[in-house]
Amino acid sequence: MVLPVYVYGMSVLRKIALEIPEDYKELDQLIADMFETMHTSDGVGLAAPQVGKSLRIFVVDTTPMADAGKDPALVDFKKVFINPYILDEWGDPWAFEEGCLSLPNIREEVTRPSHVRVEYYDEEWNLKEEEFDGIRARVIQHEYDHLDGKLFVDRISPIRRKLLSARLNSISHGRADCDYRMVYPKR
Ligand code: NI
Repeated sequence: MVLPVYVYGMSVLRKIALEIPEDYKELDQLIADMFETMHTSDGVGLAAPQVGKSLRIFVVDTTPMADAGKDPALVDFKKVFINPYILDEWGDPWAFEEGCLSLPNIREEVTRPSHVRVEYYDEEWNLKEEEFDGIRARVIQHEYDHLDGKLFVDRISPIRRKLLSARLNSISHGRADCDYRMVYPKR
């Protein structure tokens, strides 16, 4: 089922999400719904707070970026990260233009370290530890931020953020030109 996307202004995006217990009954459904929602809205990553669930899980699928010919490593990079923990980040910080389904039509260059080592459970509760770099690391860093209540606009300069303030305000009033369903604060 395609879920509506919670956008800028919703408090769930600002919470520290809770770990998922191993006996969480709706896990398979949540994962299926998150992939369906992400694919329908042309995202390459989606974290549970973006569908209104304050839980530590995100999904990624960078296949659309691989199709654009950006990086062969992006082919079939389709994964679920449950209760992830970033063990280390290193490497030369690099700028990359990020977007987010919770911030429709906003794209900004964000600078982050190039490499990441992450521990997480897969959908069968196998504990994994892996290293990623390039765009794969970038997507993981962006989605991981969502679990700690952070958005990429928190990581741009105050001047850039000020320039975006009217557009952010519009999004929080449900005024954004996008073709997926949004949840925004009631006033
Ligand atoms: Ni995002």
